[in-house]
Amino acid sequence: MSNMDELLKAGLDRVAQHGVERLRAEDPDLHDLIEREYFRQSRVLSMVAASSTADPSVLACEGTATMNVTTEGYPGKRFHAGCEVVDEIERLAIERAKTAFGARYANVQPHSGTSANTIVMFSLLQAGDTILGLDLDSGGHLTHGAKASVSGQYFRSFGYGLTEERLLDYDQVRALALEHKPKLIVCGASAYPRTIDFGRFRAIADEVGAYVLADISHIAGLVVAGEHPSPVDHAHFTTTSTYKQLYGPRGGLILIGRDVDTLAPDGKTTLPDLVQKAVFPFLQGTPILSAIAAKARALAMADTPEFRERARRVVADAKALADALLARGYDVLTGGTDNHMVLINVLTNGLTGVVVEKSLEECDIIVNKNKIHGDTKSAFVTSGMRFGTNTLAMRGLGPAEMELCADLVDRVLKGTRPLSDREYELDAGVKAEVRAEVARLCERFPIPHYPLT
Ligand SMILES: Cc1ncc(COP(=O)(O)O)c(C=O)c1O
Repeated sequence: MSNMDELLKAGLDRVAQHGVERLRAEDPDLHDLIEREYFRQSRVLSMVAASSTADPSVLACEGTATMNVTTEGYPGKRFHAGCEVVDEIERLAIERAKTAFGARYANVQPHSGTSANTIVMFSLLQAGDTILGLDLDSGGHLTHGAKASVSGQYFRSFGYGLTEERLLDYDQVRALALEHKPKLIVCGASAYPRTIDFGRFRAIADEVGAYVLADISHIAGLVVAGEHPSPVDHAHFTTTSTYKQLYGPRGGLILIGRDVDTLAPDGKTTLPDLVQKAVFPFLQGTPILSAIAAKARALAMADTPEFRERARRVVADAKALADALLARGYDVLTGGTDNHMVLINVLTNGLTGVVVEKSLEECDIIVNKNKIHGDTKSAFVTSGMRFGTNTLAMRGLGPAEMELCADLVDRVLKGTRPLSDREYELDAGVKAEVRAEVARLCERFPIPHYPLT
C-alpha cells in the first residue's frame, strides 16, 4: 500500500469527524439543531409505525464522499466517467436487495417509496388508464390512487375498502376489478394491521388481465425475515421504501420476482426493461450514490439472524401492545395485529387523533394520528391513532415492556380533557409522572450504538 493510500485510509474516519467539528465551529446554529435532534430521538419513545432508527453505519454511508459522484444511467452504462467504484457499490446494493427479498430483479435508484410507486405506474400505464387501490381512509397510501396524488389525478382510480370487521374486502376487489377492468391493481397499505393475501390479489388480476403492484413499504422487514408472506413472486412489481422496517436510508426499491421475463404491455420489452427506463431517463436523473451505499448496508444487516430475531420481536411487541390496550378497554381495530402496527379508535374515548398525538408528544411519546375506516374527521384531526413497534423493538423493549407502554399511553389519555376537536388540557401531574417514566425507559433501553455523550 502506498503512502498516499495509507493517508487516505485514515482520512475516511477523519473526514466524518472533521465534518462535525467544522460544523460545530463554523455553523453552530445548524450544529446545535442537529445535535438537539439527535438527543430528542434518544429521549423519546418513538411509536411511529412508518419510521425506524438507522444503525450508525447506515448513517455513515450517507455522509461519505460517494455523495459527490454525479452520474446518470446504470453500472457499466453511465453517462459520466469516474464511476468504477460507485458501479461496484450499486451492483452490491442490487445483489443484496435480490438476496434479501428472493427477487430476480432489483432497481435501487428510486429516491423514495413514492417515487418507486410512481415509476411503476408511469412505466406501465397511459394517462387515463384505470387503476384499483386501497382507499386512503381504509389504510391505503396516497400513491395508490388517492385524488390528492398524481396517481389519482393522472389515472382513473377506483378504491376498494374493508369489510365490517375492518379486514380487506377481497370480494369487493374482485367485483370492482370485473366491473372496471383496471390495468393495474395496487395492494399493500399504510395502516392495516393484518396479513395481506398477495396471492389472492394476483388471482383477481389474472382474471381481468391486470398487473399487480405490491407496496410493502410498511412490512418489508417482516417480509425479509419471513414474518409476513412475501409478495415478490405473486406481484408483477414489489416496491418499498427503505427507511421503515429495513432500518435504512430515505429511499425506495423496485423488485421483480418470477415475472422477470413477463412482457410489458407493448408485447416486446420485459418488465425489468420497462422499470429500468422509467427510473432513468423518464422520471429520475442522477442517482444518489450515498443513499445507495446506505441501502446496501441496511440490506446486508437485514440478512442476519439478529435482524430476524428483531423482526420476531417487532411482531411480538405489537401483539402484546394490542392485548394490553384491549385489556384497558380501548377499541383496537380488528381486535389485534399480525404485524408491527396497532390501530385504535380514540373517538370512542371522547378524543380525536390530533389531541391524542399532541398530548402524548407532551409526555415524550411519539405516535401519529390516522384516519380510520368510516372516519368522519379530516386528515388533520382524525378519529384514530397508529402505533408501531419498529423502534421499540430495536431499542430492546420486549413484550414485557409493552404492558408499561400501554399503561403510559392509558394514563396520558385518561389525563387528557378535550376542549374541542383540536384543543385539550393535560393534567400536569400525569405529564410529569409519565415523562419521568419515559426517561427511565429510554435510559434502560438506549438506541443501540447511539452514544449519549
Ligand atoms: C404504503 C406506503 N407506500 C409508500 C410510502 C411512501 O414512502 P416515501 O415516504 O419513501 O415516499 C408510504 C409512507 O409512509 C407508505 O406507507
